[in-house]
Amino acid sequence: MNRNIACIGAGYIGGPTMAVIAQKNPDRKVIVADISQARIDAWNSDDLPIYEPGLQEVVASCRGKNLFFTTDVAAAIRECDIIFVGVNTPTKTFGAGAGYASNLQYWEAAARTILKEANGDKIVVEKSTLPVRTADSMAAVLHTHREYTFTVLSNPEFLAEGSAINDLLNPDRVLIGGPQDEQGKAAIDALVQVYATWVSRDRILTTNVWSSEMSKLAANAMLAQRISSINAFSALCEETGADITEVANVLGMDHRIGKYFLKAGPGFGGSCFKKDVLNLVYLCRSYGLHACADYWEQVVIMNDAQQERIVERTVKALFNTLAGKRMALFGFAFKANTGDTRETPALTVANLLAEEHADLVVTDPKALENAAKDLAHLPKVTFEPDPYLAATNVDAILVMTEWDCYKTLDWKQIYANMRQPALIFDTRNILDHAELKQIGFKVLAVGKII
Ligand code: NAD
Ligand code: UGA
Repeated sequence: MNRNIACIGAGYIGGPTMAVIAQKNPDRKVIVADISQARIDAWNSDDLPIYEPGLQEVVASCRGKNLFFTTDVAAAIRECDIIFVGVNTPTKTFGAGAGYASNLQYWEAAARTILKEANGDKIVVEKSTLPVRTADSMAAVLHTHREYTFTVLSNPEFLAEGSAINDLLNPDRVLIGGPQDEQGKAAIDALVQVYATWVSRDRILTTNVWSSEMSKLAANAMLAQRISSINAFSALCEETGADITEVANVLGMDHRIGKYFLKAGPGFGGSCFKKDVLNLVYLCRSYGLHACADYWEQVVIMNDAQQERIVERTVKALFNTLAGKRMALFGFAFKANTGDTRETPALTVANLLAEEHADLVVTDPKALENAAKDLAHLPKVTFEPDPYLAATNVDAILVMTEWDCYKTLDWKQIYANMRQPALIFDTRNILDHAELKQIGFKVLAVGKII
């Protein structure tokens, strides 16, 4: 076997992951291949297709040396004996399981390309997040080959967007699942060596394939569930006068609960939490585990309710009508430090505000291009990079993304240019509410009465 590594799929996962693997394994050739010419062109330019702190530097350190981006998927497969598959696995929108199951068409297409183009034995690594037992189907496709042997491993990725490079460089754990026979163990060992160049061995966990696939879904479901849990408490806080930040602080100091993922807000966004929880719901139902399915589905239902509540409260604060009023969305990315807007709470909120016939102006330091695509269906929306201009003559500002740059704005100046009663809804609880109130704003926040 040679030491070269290919990755099919140059997206949010394939690009950063392979860039770090290439940087940490300068003696290996790493080829990232994608069917999208535009994406590959962007990876080969100075204007990378995704914004991620530190990514530009890592790519610059090895691109053209041992890291290559190409649309020639077939050549990448032939040149490399370890092949990662990091293609998209969105929720199915048609046919059986629509709205819940993962759409595996891109993934199966990748498997069939590997089968067609392989010129020797290969280790195939699932990097995409997949339903449990997908490796079985992949093996079923690949084992139809008469000449060559394919070993399918599961190596799910745990990085979060916005901190991808740091997460890749300092992972809590790297998980590698594989068949427990001799061939499987050798393949696991080959992949362990890729990560062991920078990750200490005690953080590299090896399991059977099904535990690995299951652990990825379980990790995302547990994280999403924490957000829905704290958001459920935030609704109750708004009714009772309890303060969600104080409650979260109390909870977090219990070391059994822990302090992370307890920030109430507009609900989770991003391409994965909703998709993966719905996939889990589908899996549970398909095994007849209806109580388990209902339990996990409630995490998504709670998340949707949080976004609806934000709009309901906004309408109520503006005398039960938004018709003709101007609303500024501060932030459109699903979280700070990314330009990614997939499943962003800001989109749901924007659509609900538009249903109330509000005019929208959207500002965001990195996500305006994506926002313009996502909101192209709305008649009355404008996009403004400068938050001061975005806020001019608006009735309300909804802070949707926790960008640092919003914490240091001159709110007095913004207030002076707004229409009265100048509402600000801090859905991320990042601003100084007492100061805003003193300036004259009518202030709403999640999980507290201001
Ligand atoms: P993405 O849409 O950004 O990237 C997927 C890429 O695969 C696209 O560029 C697409 O053109 C390419 N592609 C699709 N079919 C192909 C084919 N047959 N051959 C070659 N290229 C093909 O998606 P993403 O955000 O990178 O997510 C990919 C997978 O990783 C998903 O399963 C996701 O759940 C998982 N994941 C994502 C993250 C994240 O932070 N985004 C984190 C952990 C896991
Ligand atoms: C998440 C997981 O954190 C990663 O481990 C995983 O690899 C990834 O999904 C994936 O499988 O795609 P990501 O979605 O990039 O990563 O970002 P998170 O930091 O998890 O944030 C997700 C959403 O939850 C964001 O909208 C964020 O604002 C929200 N969130 C997060 C809260 O509302 N409160 C919190 O306390 C934390």
